[in-house]
Amino acid sequence: MRLDHPAAPNSPHERPAAGHATAVAHPNIALIKYWGKRDDHLILPASDSLSMTLDVFSTTTTVRLAPEAAADQVTLNDTPAADEPYRRVTAFLDLVRERARRAERAVVDTRNTVPTGAGLASSASGFAALAVAATAAYGLRLDATELSRLARRGSGSASRSIFGGFALWHAGRGTGADADLSSYAEPLPVGDLDAALVIAIVDAGPKAVSSRVGMRRTVETSPLYRPWVESSRADLTEMRAALLRGDLEAVGEIAERNALGMHATMLAARPAVRYMAPATLAVLDSVLRLRQDGVAAYATMDAGPNVKVLCAGADADRVARTLRSVASRTYIARRGPGACLRTEDGR
Ligand code: PMV
Repeated sequence: MRLDHPAAPNSPHERPAAGHATAVAHPNIALIKYWGKRDDHLILPASDSLSMTLDVFSTTTTVRLAPEAAADQVTLNDTPAADEPYRRVTAFLDLVRERARRAERAVVDTRNTVPTGAGLASSASGFAALAVAATAAYGLRLDATELSRLARRGSGSASRSIFGGFALWHAGRGTGADADLSSYAEPLPVGDLDAALVIAIVDAGPKAVSSRVGMRRTVETSPLYRPWVESSRADLTEMRAALLRGDLEAVGEIAERNALGMHATMLAARPAVRYMAPATLAVLDSVLRLRQDGVAAYATMDAGPNVKVLCAGADADRVARTLRSVASRTYIARRGPGACLRTEDGR
């Protein structure tokens, strides 16, 4: 493919632009949450977070350079992107273009198999897939750490979807350029752990308050925010040890208290940020009853009313069956792969 603005091939990060590339990424669910930034522009979080990448709800994104186009073109599930997602995607492409020292606009086609905007982290798989596809299309050769840093600039949680399995996103040190360099995710070693997440959908519609807005309001107004950040640091240390031991019950207990604490900080924001719905609480009650019946099941929730229930793979069917009485749909997810390029033959 002919390109009008070939990059000067004098940096180890550059390679001939492919012109087009397709990447696939999966969402991740945080067991230690990211909630709140210390730098809104660079997307630097207040604390470390830790997640499991799923094997369901993939996003597939194709980026095709369009040298003759005056503006980027972005479609999401065959529909032109609305203003806000369009602005976020073009701002992200600008970062890639600046780094690749190229100017061409691009045609971006994204297909999500996750219900968009339902607090199921479609932005994580979306920006992880976009980071991998756009860097290849524009001829940037980035290692996984650099891809994670780049994906972070699209959506914080996307930094973790670059990796499969369990990943830890470092908040990074300090401010500005140094902090930018030190804030990335990396894969986390875990012991023998057969973990599944049962996703209980109570409402698949778009959320009322975006995570960006909800986070900012929590950081700025919630008196519970700082104490939660402190407790989250302690949770992370305990969580890492529990994962290494392969101790599912401890992993679940820590994840559940971390998530409930995060929602408590939001409820204390002024005005309150509330993602939990009555059906969310009904699912939490079911999870409690499962535990009383001897099933190790633990809940976590993000910026939406849906609940993800951590349990042993062997218990996942039973947990899903039980939750179906209170949730409109359930899905069983296991550990999934990291973001990757798709080859011409579709593999
Ligand atoms: O990456 P964002 O801006 O969509 O924020 C995600 C925040 C939570 O999903 C609520 C928590 C997390 O760590 O993924």
